[in-house]
Amino acid sequence: MRILVTGGAGFIGSALVRHLVSGIGAEVLNVDALTYAGNLASLKSVESAPNYQFLHADICDRARMQEAFASFRPDTVMHLAAESHVDRSISGADDFIQTNIVGTFSLLDTARHYWDELDARRKSAFRFLHVSTDEVYGSLGDEGLFEETTPYDPSSPYSASKAASDHLVIAWHRTYGLPVVVSNCSNNYGPFHFPEKLIPLMILNALEGKSLPVYGNGANVRDWLYVEDHARALFTIASRGRPGEKYNVGGRNERRNIDVVHRICAILDGVHSDKGPHRRLINNVTDRPGHDARYAIDASKLESELGWKAQETFETGIEKTVHWYLENEWWWRPLRENVYSGERLGVFKGR
Ligand code: NAD
Ligand code: TYD
Repeated sequence: MRILVTGGAGFIGSALVRHLVSGIGAEVLNVDALTYAGNLASLKSVESAPNYQFLHADICDRARMQEAFASFRPDTVMHLAAESHVDRSISGADDFIQTNIVGTFSLLDTARHYWDELDARRKSAFRFLHVSTDEVYGSLGDEGLFEETTPYDPSSPYSASKAASDHLVIAWHRTYGLPVVVSNCSNNYGPFHFPEKLIPLMILNALEGKSLPVYGNGANVRDWLYVEDHARALFTIASRGRPGEKYNVGGRNERRNIDVVHRICAILDGVHSDKGPHRRLINNVTDRPGHDARYAIDASKLESELGWKAQETFETGIEKTVHWYLENEWWWRPLRENVYSGERLGVFKGR
């Protein structure tokens, strides 16, 4: 298999590239612009593998994308490149509109022209997997789960830009016949997670004795999936998903934010009992504007149709994750010092 991955230097993309290169043995071309969230250090374990290549390019650059398709000749595209942080999208949405919407359009149209010229066998085997989020469905109340048929109702500039890109991808299937599949996944966590998102930020702040900023009352619920389970799901969907279909991905691990933070504190208390209890660092801060109350995924279509199942529970995954950060300061220290040191993002005057 020849797989062109976009955003492979990011959190989920790097887990996917490691899985494809080492676990599956696919030929992989990783196309990434290396924004603040892109980090080649996450790919150290595969960087010299003979079946791995890296291309430093922006997906919005149509000429570079055409060149990449023409020279690499993929039979599968797995599109993950995006701006991914809700709080940054609240501070300013320009890059989100550009990469998530215009970039997806650029890649889709490049893929369509490339696919059009393939011979019949390669044409029918070709797949374009668009990797999206459950946040496109908006917010749930106390009951119910997101299904593939749940109407789109995004709340943040981030989720609205992802919703727009999902619509483009499905339109390219209905209009041009491009064999696309769309995956909508819940919140991921695990190793190599950029420390702006809840879980890695709380781990590193707690380790450094800094305040743990919980938005609002901490009762918002997210449905957590270990990133390596997501990487396996993406390969499954790209290889066996039906063209034109959407697949929800999630591991039935709903947790309130405050309970996630308490769990991280308890694990750290076990390791550094002299510095505990870490939960004394928790600080309830001003809520995020437009903060969705609850996300929860029904993944039964993916489980029954394609046989995927999450392997990690939240308990096993969070334990592994905290220990990974304890053991891999070489990876996160330069990010905390040079890229993002944990200041609050996504609040603005008048709110
Ligand atoms: P991330 O922010 O960690 O990584 C994004 C990667 O895309 C980075 O390597 C960055 O350099 C690259 N990139 C950004 N703009 C680019 C451009 N214009 N051209 C080329 N590369 C560019 O993101 P992530 O958390 O790994 O998420 C990956 C994908 O999965 C995204 O599409 C996101 O919407 C989706 N997703 C994320 C989650 C989650 O919990 N993180 C959940 C569901 C879906
Ligand atoms: P986040 O990791 O930003 O993911 P998303 O917004 O895509 O769900 O946030 C997860 C949850 O944690 C969300 O409800 C917002 C909350 N949160 C905090 O309470 N404090 C923080 O410092 C951050 C970054 C998030």
